[in-house]
Amino acid sequence: MMNNLNYINGEWTGKNLQQSPVYNPSTGEVVSEVPKGGKQEAVQAVAAASDAFEGWADQTAYDRSKLLRKFFDLMIEHEDELAEIMTKEMGKPFKEAKGEVHYAANYLEWYAEEGKRIYGETIPTHVPNKRLQVWKKPIGVVAAITPWNFPAAMLTRKMGPALAAGCTVVIKPSSETPLTAIKLVELAEKAGFPKGVINIVTGSSREIGEVFLTDERVRKVTFTGSTEVGKKLMEQGASTVKKLSLELGGHAPIIIYNDADIEKAVNGTIASKFRNAGQTCVCGNRIYVQSDIYDEFVDAFADRTKQLQVGDGMKEGTDIGPLINEAGVEKVDEHVKNAVSNGGVVVAGGHRIGEKGNFYSPTVVKDVNPSMLIMNEETFGPVAPIQKFETEEEVIQLANDTPYGLAAYVFTESVSRGTKTIEKLDFGIVGWNDGAPSAVQAPFGGMKESGLGREGGHQGIDDFLEMQYVSIGI
Ligand code: SIN
Repeated sequence: MMNNLNYINGEWTGKNLQQSPVYNPSTGEVVSEVPKGGKQEAVQAVAAASDAFEGWADQTAYDRSKLLRKFFDLMIEHEDELAEIMTKEMGKPFKEAKGEVHYAANYLEWYAEEGKRIYGETIPTHVPNKRLQVWKKPIGVVAAITPWNFPAAMLTRKMGPALAAGCTVVIKPSSETPLTAIKLVELAEKAGFPKGVINIVTGSSREIGEVFLTDERVRKVTFTGSTEVGKKLMEQGASTVKKLSLELGGHAPIIIYNDADIEKAVNGTIASKFRNAGQTCVCGNRIYVQSDIYDEFVDAFADRTKQLQVGDGMKEGTDIGPLINEAGVEKVDEHVKNAVSNGGVVVAGGHRIGEKGNFYSPTVVKDVNPSMLIMNEETFGPVAPIQKFETEEEVIQLANDTPYGLAAYVFTESVSRGTKTIEKLDFGIVGWNDGAPSAVQAPFGGMKESGLGREGGHQGIDDFLEMQYVSIGI
């Protein structure tokens, strides 16, 4: 039985605070309530994490690894329960939620091992009576601010490397989806992490965020969310020169050349575009198709899109769940209407579904152009806009013409064309004939205004470590 409270210094707290409802986006019903924490609770959690830091950092990487591994095992043991909580508070189909639970758990398992491989360096000396070394140390208290679109994976992608490196953690989950995060903390407690090492505070993003960004005891803030909020965090963190990792917005181009395997391109585009109902930072948002295969691709892609089943995530066979809230639906609808009023042609979907819930039909709009809202702003919904192009130079220019630089996709069977194109693309992640490139062992993150730092892979632990150069006179 879940308590849905905050967890600070090894105690479940917040029962006496005002409570905030958590809604099921599929039905609008209240799933549960969580405490509306604020400044005071955030300060308490930071103090607990700060007090616990020395003891946790002093444990060996092997001891920390054992706890992370136990945490991983418990996630797998509770996969159905976690997936159901996620579907009910976030809306994604149960089978997709279960996939996310595994994706999330794998970050814990991977960093349980990677923590054992935090190597320092020995540098050749320039004088005989000195030895020069680089030591690596955990950065300190880490504050993690996580989004609603991947309530489990975005948390473990931060917690896994932070804990493995020897950092203590304070979590602020999204107010839309705090229940999955609380359940994860409950499992972490069961795994046996010492008190104060992991803390979670739900409630006011403004008040809790301000503590995270301004309290000197927090040495690092790691955030996944919009570019707009990321920029504000950078400003707020300036007074304490806060170390920041930012995984921000994206506006991914999908480039489909005339030598692409059409079936691969359709499958990859469906996977990229409609995962999580299009509510991912890496999902394709602009599809560019070379003119000689344009009609063939549009027809095949629209046919597949029409087969996707929209519905409640707990219903068997659902491919696409609801959007997170009414504002999300309105934005999607605005993008579609704007495209149509500027010459776009809807060839699948194009409308809201039902009176209740935040459902929008999987939509394909062809003949779009760069002036449309949808080709410039992150849609965060199940809409695929398709534009025709003629040459490689033209499509590379179109693809890079954005302040974002998170993910891009290229479909071509030509190694030479693929290589030349990808070398010119300013995006941190590229799927080449692959619509689902994310993997725990690979670095995830963006160029330009899509963020700072990388999560995942051996690179992902560096952001939680300080480098200390030591010159030893002998
Ligand atoms: C995201 O959309 O921010 C994360 C998606 C992923 O990890 O693949």
